[in-house]
Amino acid sequence: MTAESMDKLVALCKRRGFIFQSNEIYGGLQGLYDYGPLGVEFKNNLKRSWWNSMVYERDDIEGIDSSILANPLVLKHSGHEETFSDPLVDCRSCKSRIRADHIKGNKCPECGSEDLTEPRPFNLMFKTSVGPVDDGSSFAYLRPETAQQIFTNFKNVLDSTPHHLPFGIAQMGKAFRNEITPRNFIFRVREFEQMELEFFVRPGEDEKWHKTWTDLRVDWWEKQGISKDNLELLEVPKDDLAHYSKATVDIMYKYPHGLEELEGIANRTDFDLGSHSRNQSELNLTAKVNKNSDSNAKLAVQDPETKEWLVPYVIEPSAGVERGFLAILNEAYRVEGLEGGKERTVLSLKPHLSPIKAAVIPLKRNNEDLVKTAKNLKNVLQSQGLGRVLFENSGNIGKSYRRHDEIGTPICITIDFESLEDGTATIRDRDTMEQKRMDIDSISEYFKETIDN
Ligand code: GAP
Repeated sequence: MTAESMDKLVALCKRRGFIFQSNEIYGGLQGLYDYGPLGVEFKNNLKRSWWNSMVYERDDIEGIDSSILANPLVLKHSGHEETFSDPLVDCRSCKSRIRADHIKGNKCPECGSEDLTEPRPFNLMFKTSVGPVDDGSSFAYLRPETAQQIFTNFKNVLDSTPHHLPFGIAQMGKAFRNEITPRNFIFRVREFEQMELEFFVRPGEDEKWHKTWTDLRVDWWEKQGISKDNLELLEVPKDDLAHYSKATVDIMYKYPHGLEELEGIANRTDFDLGSHSRNQSELNLTAKVNKNSDSNAKLAVQDPETKEWLVPYVIEPSAGVERGFLAILNEAYRVEGLEGGKERTVLSLKPHLSPIKAAVIPLKRNNEDLVKTAKNLKNVLQSQGLGRVLFENSGNIGKSYRRHDEIGTPICITIDFESLEDGTATIRDRDTMEQKRMDIDSISEYFKETIDN
């Protein structure tokens, strides 16, 4: 079961502190969102899960964290200056700017006027000036993808680690695009985070690796709680491929607003490493690169046996954190009928993604012994390093349970008067609502098993 409605997810996110409109008290700024106390935990957990699977669980991938501001030459030679644009039309009547592919019947969708300009390309990259003088001569781009600084660091990583082909470089972080029509909550925004892997392989092995990575990425999304029934693979038609891609498979998810891209897995060939290399004519490149790079690097590897130089092909699984956030939230959301005509909202998140791993609640908020025992247990569980554990002194157990169901806390632990007598506590399971008594001393082990799974 899913939320089936974006409005329900938006309302939950605001009500419980997952996501707020950015700059809200000044009227907001379109296409930007802030992540609240629960949102930041959830987002970090999602990114950690990606990093674990990409970097820690493999020995052929290294991570980096590069600068967000990019030298314009990087984005010139990557092809973004020339091609990273949408065709835009201006309405002379109401002054709206509209993406050309959103216009139907030659009419402005805002005011209905037919007084429209011809489409003109509009580059999606944000620019900012660098240094104290803002005369336009010294500027940088805010990176539109994290990928380019992986390519520019290719040699640095290769020279400082013991890798040979195939191997990968992973990076997570902010990317910026001046989207013309940000929409559908956090689905299309102007500032977002990407989780990108550039996996370098021998030319000729690229198609095999493209398939391997597509399968691995679908499996990973399933492990984050997304049902396979709500995922589809889309082979991007040749005419729609990005300028660097030989083939791209998009993992599509059934969002509340429709089937849309969650992650793209592209075969970028030798385009990027070739574009950022000097003396390109000596490199036997297969991609049509932008000639005469200003770079002083040779982004190639030498075959250990033949000593020949080759430029690796790149397979790139590139996922959006916000799109993952939205998809997982949608999957986890359900409303259940309870006895007496009541209902509860539950977020059945996988425990490793839950913003709060457990809540420890004393039955009475003013009882010193109950509070002390609950705080002690909270500290013991927190020290396990599995994520945030909350001591919640609400004084209303029923209300606390409802709140934790709605924010996806896997277990609630109640300390009551029996706890003080026999050293047991009540553990309540979020999904089944089952409650059982357990020795406080054994809760630590139970907690670890529940969250680690
Ligand atoms: N490096 C390749 C690349 O950037 P992309 O298909 O343009 O490819 C990759 O972007 C992923 O980044 C998308 O699948 C999506 O999850 C996310 N993404 C792209 N634009 C976005 C936006 N405006 N808002 C939120 N996420 C976005």
